[in-house]
Amino acid sequence: MDALKKTTIKGKNLRNRLVMAPMTTYSGNEDYTPSNEELHYYKLRSQTVGMVITAAVAVSETAHAFERQISLESDSYVKAMAHLANTIKKEGALAIAQLHHGGRMNNPNLYENSSNIVAPSPLKAQRDNAVTPREMTEEEILQTVEDFKNAAVRAKKAGFDGVEIHGANTYLLQQFFSGYSNIREDRYGGTLEKRLTFIDEVTDAIIEATHDEQFIVGYRLSPEEIEPNGITLKDTDYLVDHLNEKNLDYIHLSLRQYAQTSMRDESITIPVVSRLKSRLRPELSLIVSGDIHTTEDLLHSMKLGGDFFALGTALLADPSAGASLKDKGDVDRTFKEPTLPSSLYERLKKNEHAFKHKGYTF
Ligand SMILES: Cc1cc2nc3c(=O)[nH]c(=O)nc-3n(C[C@H](O)[C@H](O)[C@H](O)COP(=O)(O)O)c2cc1C
Repeated sequence: MDALKKTTIKGKNLRNRLVMAPMTTYSGNEDYTPSNEELHYYKLRSQTVGMVITAAVAVSETAHAFERQISLESDSYVKAMAHLANTIKKEGALAIAQLHHGGRMNNPNLYENSSNIVAPSPLKAQRDNAVTPREMTEEEILQTVEDFKNAAVRAKKAGFDGVEIHGANTYLLQQFFSGYSNIREDRYGGTLEKRLTFIDEVTDAIIEATHDEQFIVGYRLSPEEIEPNGITLKDTDYLVDHLNEKNLDYIHLSLRQYAQTSMRDESITIPVVSRLKSRLRPELSLIVSGDIHTTEDLLHSMKLGGDFFALGTALLADPSAGASLKDKGDVDRTFKEPTLPSSLYERLKKNEHAFKHKGYTF
């Protein structure tokens, strides 16, 4: 099947169209460099997919949302992150670093002073533990654009094949785009157009600083929010039309289920993937993620418009998911402790119920 055949992206060879979805491991070293058990975890999972997107990588000191999150917040991280890039590439997959700032979703336990938790507006996230963030000044916003750019340049220096801008899952870039979390009245908020300004500046800065014939730049987004004033599919059409004009190489859709339709409007019956694919220029690839476990899922998501297919849970449980799909059309659904960093394994186990109904066991 086509999804399991060789292909290229930006002139680089890929063994297939499978992508390891970005997944935080909570397992870096205390100094936020990748740990040995994390390197081992990536090594195993880089052997049968075409591209590996790393766990979210913090772009600055105030970007950390998770315990033991790996980082590119200063030049001193380039060497350690080069180990990660090499580990992935040595196994024949492309290595993409996901660049991230958590904004109001940051874990307050990681910060001595809660005024270091910043966001577009002083509105608390609806999650356990959340604190009211401090509204970013314009100067801080410009600095954060620089932080993203510098982290991308460092990723390139470390030998990554590209970077993915984390604009999904309610973190900082999405917080700026959403009327639910951004009530600013300056040039970064107020209208849909202004709420796009931060995304625009981050994306342009990264492309300008890293652009060449080879380096890949992708953008991950969540297409909708269910909250009042949250992102609608129409807003996402606007965002995607805008990103479509930029020198990006792929858009990555973060979905709960790859074939999902609108969460806000039942009258919209076309799957989000197909809706957005139809807006993209042909050279801009679309990565689809969410609940992909079998070759049937691959065929279906390809039919809906996906070009590449990101596996999350499937690769956590089955490090050789690419080979399993080729051999038997399905993945092995048992999480294997020795193949996972211990903190990640413990978290997955605590969350057992979330995986059980899909047939995953421990
Ligand atoms: C343990 C875990 C960590 C995750 N961390 C990230 C992350 O760092 N960045 C991100 O964009 N998505 C993250 N996700 C979301 C996944 O990339 C993916 O979108 C989600 O798991 C749905 O795909 P699946 O059904 O194949 O698991 C994470 C998911 C899991 C299970």
